[in-house]
Amino acid sequence: MVKDTLSILDNRTGRTYELPVKDGAIRATDLRQIKAGTDDFGLMTYDPAFLNTASCRSKITFIDGDQGILRYRGYPIDQLAEKCSYLECAYLLLNGELPTAPQHEAWKSEVTAHTMVHEDVRKLIDSFRYDAHPMGMLASTVAALSTYYPESKRIFDKQQRRLDITRLIAKLPTLAAWSYRHSRGYPYVYPDNELSFAGNFLSMVKRMGNKPYEPDPALERALDVLFILHADHEQNCSTNAMRAVGSSQADPYVSVAAAAAALYGPLHGGANEAVLRMLKEIGSIDKVPAFIKEVKEGKSGRLMGFGHRVYKNYDPRAKIIKKMADAVFEVTGQNPLLKIAVELEKIALSDEYFVKRKLYPNVDFYSGLIYEAMGFPVDMFPVLFAIPRVSGWLSQWEELLLDEEQKIARPRQLFLGEGERDVVPLAARG
Ligand code: CMC
Repeated sequence: MVKDTLSILDNRTGRTYELPVKDGAIRATDLRQIKAGTDDFGLMTYDPAFLNTASCRSKITFIDGDQGILRYRGYPIDQLAEKCSYLECAYLLLNGELPTAPQHEAWKSEVTAHTMVHEDVRKLIDSFRYDAHPMGMLASTVAALSTYYPESKRIFDKQQRRLDITRLIAKLPTLAAWSYRHSRGYPYVYPDNELSFAGNFLSMVKRMGNKPYEPDPALERALDVLFILHADHEQNCSTNAMRAVGSSQADPYVSVAAAAAALYGPLHGGANEAVLRMLKEIGSIDKVPAFIKEVKEGKSGRLMGFGHRVYKNYDPRAKIIKKMADAVFEVTGQNPLLKIAVELEKIALSDEYFVKRKLYPNVDFYSGLIYEAMGFPVDMFPVLFAIPRVSGWLSQWEELLLDEEQKIARPRQLFLGEGERDVVPLAARG
């Protein structure tokens, strides 16, 4: 009979151990019984950057990196992108099921009711330097919201938690748009509750003067689809930050600020910004082969927008974005950088260096081109990623809080430093 166990022979002692295997994993703490001597702490696993360590059991998002599959709560991402709105997907991530029509109406009005921010937050945004990066402003103002909602510390009160979740999903577009307006020196535009989630965001970014803003339906839909594609991605760097900070029972506003800080980095949510800068630096198609050569030789950094920790196949989100690009370019005119991107992709996908390492375009490779065509400056790109990702962070945060197996996140280390030694007073140290 096949047993769901793992037998381990410790060659140091000759002893064998049998560990249970559940859901394709052993418990790292089961290894602690494996000791070389009586004062041995017990065996640990060493896994910098969590390459092979599951930190939670989750029911939210499924990824099969080899097959290029992404599902939210069981629904394939391409079907969600085709048939749903971002707010339906946010509801799905949070509640496990797509909303019925009445649930959807109620959810939309709840979110709409919370799009305003306290006037003092506007003053806070005002106080940033004129050239402050909008992502820095977003992370700071989200953290500041914690001081406006001290009751958000009651994280185990379901009603309170849900209120703060709704507030965060609703207010992020306002903070994001106002960060942009501040960096441009434009007056702030208040939320227009007659518009859709994406339409209202576009209005807060683009509206000039008193005339009501009417979003182009193709751009509004494209932005909403981009929001769907970015809503969650299981245990990525920023979600891990959200869970780690949330595990200390910090309130959701400061936890989201920490997640936003993680997202800001160029290897994560800052990659779409880096892709655009890279394409501009390359400048023309004829320079692509030389650039690829330099990447392979380690002289030009990485090919941004390529490669993924989990996907060893084409990122399914990149496929959807690439298709959607045509609809956007029909309205905006083609982005001249597209030709360089297509050439880069063509060469990289047939080059042995990239093929051997299974490096394919990821979600950020084409999203920046669309954002730019829509008129967003590059430093807004990570902000555009953060707006929908907050629904994923909060779903994962709530799952963490309700998971009885979770405790404060606190990894172990392998200490390789000095043993004990005596302090020599400064005067005697030379
Ligand atoms: N260009 C050139 N070489 C690369 C790239 C790249 N974009 N990505 C990975 N490699 C090479 C890397 O040098 C290494 O080669 P070797 O085995 O010879 O040392 C090998 O591929 C494996 O790379 P790794 O760094 O061990 O892989 P990782 O899983 O730690 O990194 C990654 C994943 C996304 C950080 C990385 O692929 C990368 O830096 N990509 C560029 C940044 C980017 O586009 N990030 C967006 C990710 S998708 C959006 C999101 O979820 O945030």
